[in-house]
Amino acid sequence: MTKQSPKPDWRMGGITVPEVEDYLYAMLPARDEVLSEMEADAAKNDVPIVGPAVARVLYQFAVISGAKKIFEMGSAIGYSTIWWARAVGEGGRVIYTDGDPKNAEKARHYFDRAGVGKRITIRVGDALEFLSEEKEPYDIIFNDVDKTDYPRVFRLALPHLKSGGLFITDNVLWSGKLRKPNPDAQTKAILEFNKLICGSPTLFTTILPIRDGISVCVKK
Ligand SMILES: C[S@@+](CC[C@H](N)C(=O)[O-])C[C@H]1O[C@@H](n2cnc3c(N)ncnc32)[C@H](O)[C@@H]1O
Repeated sequence: MTKQSPKPDWRMGGITVPEVEDYLYAMLPARDEVLSEMEADAAKNDVPIVGPAVARVLYQFAVISGAKKIFEMGSAIGYSTIWWARAVGEGGRVIYTDGDPKNAEKARHYFDRAGVGKRITIRVGDALEFLSEEKEPYDIIFNDVDKTDYPRVFRLALPHLKSGGLFITDNVLWSGKLRKPNPDAQTKAILEFNKLICGSPTLFTTILPIRDGISVCVKK
């Protein structure tokens, strides 16, 4: 009988523990006045923004891929939107979407103060409906809406992405609830979503365990 080689174990262990996360956040460069104020606003008012570590990853993906047209689904007070708008540069376009008009009003002021108001189109209502009406393909679609809608977003977003475009989603590791018994509706939806993006033959997907997990899918 031939001896079976051991199954590779790729785990490192001990990396995404609180002390290491603290270190990562301590290493981040300071944000400008507007972004710092937005971070404080989000903390004070319980607005679940991506925060600076994830925002920098989003910015990098946009810059590396040369994205000029970005559709953001779920924008709240516009924190991630400003990072996208800075990444696309002059002549780029970012679509802000949120269901709450008060968020949009706040976001508009922040955009003007950040000097990126002209690059951003604000749309108030259902992000899925707005995306389904779009005719032109996008370079990046960023998904940060209600988690129960994630499987629906997967089906809807892909036809609106150019070939080589990025479909990026926040919260795909959902505070680790994915590995706990009796998942609730949001957790079930994220589990289904992750299976869809990881199994799709038209996507090349990685999941990055930064903060609450970000998935990055390249459309073939
Ligand atoms: C996690 S927050 C977005 C945070 C933002 N991406 C950031 O990091 O700065 C989610 C937002 O999506 C909005 N939202 C949820 N489902 C939506 C939908 N179907 N259409 C539009 N907005 C939605 C909520 O109102 C909420 O403000």
